[in-house]
Amino acid sequence: MNPETLKQEAYTDIEACNNLQELEAVRVKYVGRKSELTLALRGLKDLPLEERRNAAPKLQQARKEIEGMLASKEKELASSKAEAKVDLTRPGTRHAFGHLHPLTLMEKEVVDIFTSMNFSVIDGPEVETEHYNFDVLNIPANHPAREMWDTFWLKGGNDSRSRKLLRTHTSPMQVRYMETHTPPLQIIVPGRVFRYEATDASHEINFYQVEGLMVGRDVSLANFKYVIEEFLKKMFGPKTEFRFRPSYFPFTEPSVEVDVRLVGGKGEQSESLRAIAESRKSEWLEVMGAGMVNPKVFEAAGYNPEEWQGFAFGVGLERLAMLKYKIPDIRLFYSDDLRIINQF
Ligand code: PHE
Repeated sequence: MNPETLKQEAYTDIEACNNLQELEAVRVKYVGRKSELTLALRGLKDLPLEERRNAAPKLQQARKEIEGMLASKEKELASSKAEAKVDLTRPGTRHAFGHLHPLTLMEKEVVDIFTSMNFSVIDGPEVETEHYNFDVLNIPANHPAREMWDTFWLKGGNDSRSRKLLRTHTSPMQVRYMETHTPPLQIIVPGRVFRYEATDASHEINFYQVEGLMVGRDVSLANFKYVIEEFLKKMFGPKTEFRFRPSYFPFTEPSVEVDVRLVGGKGEQSESLRAIAESRKSEWLEVMGAGMVNPKVFEAAGYNPEEWQGFAFGVGLERLAMLKYKIPDIRLFYSDDLRIINQF
């Protein structure tokens, strides 16, 4: 018997085993009491000294190696057997699912309400030209109103069509859209905007707006009031109190701002909303600017202002979300504090 060939054969047989019974049969065959190897080891004592010295270590080594192979195969088969056993009564592994950010949820709600009133949803660029962000909206260079929208300028550009900035509002999309579409139209434009300003509980250097624009032959301020009332009531419930306040924007005439009541009044009272009211020293929170589109804006877009009229508005998404979800500080939306985010 050649120990080397024996090892080879044992190896092939062991590897071919699919279960512990088969492995046991192989074990008996190679290292069992009646196996060739065991008999050879037992017969050593009858051999002449010289031959015994030569054969003994080889046989012992072969036995050791085969036993080692058997042991590791046994381990392998035992562990795959454990894996194959499915215990349906064991508790499952909980998978963490992601979820939408409160601002994304808010945008979805705003979009749902306006699409239900037949508005289309339009997208626009975050990097704008001075031309669309200011000029066409009746805010010429050096106009004091530009201070309301101090922003981040990009390098380069030698006139207002090539000078670029991070848009300060979504209003540039009014003209961009009208330039390429014919009225009547009704659109909303959700998107991110940027302001160069100090942050506090209700101001951030970047935030989200939803622009609205409705143009027709006789779209009036009364239509605006109806649409916004519908919107606010669908968003905050029928008991919500809000007010229209005269205001000024260069691109609307007349202009209004819309405030929603934080505290006092008939609505449900909340700690967080009281905190916002205190920090702003007002019972109301301004959520949108709006008005009738200024004829100069129609002219810039190539519309005849004698023929067309309409309203525009810009609503702040964070402000809506603060009211709806009772979040006292706008900066929390952009903090990565999971205790806030995971509530949604
Ligand atoms: N763009 C204005 C702002 O950001 C809001 C606004 C939009 C006002 C449309 C009037 C009409 O403050």
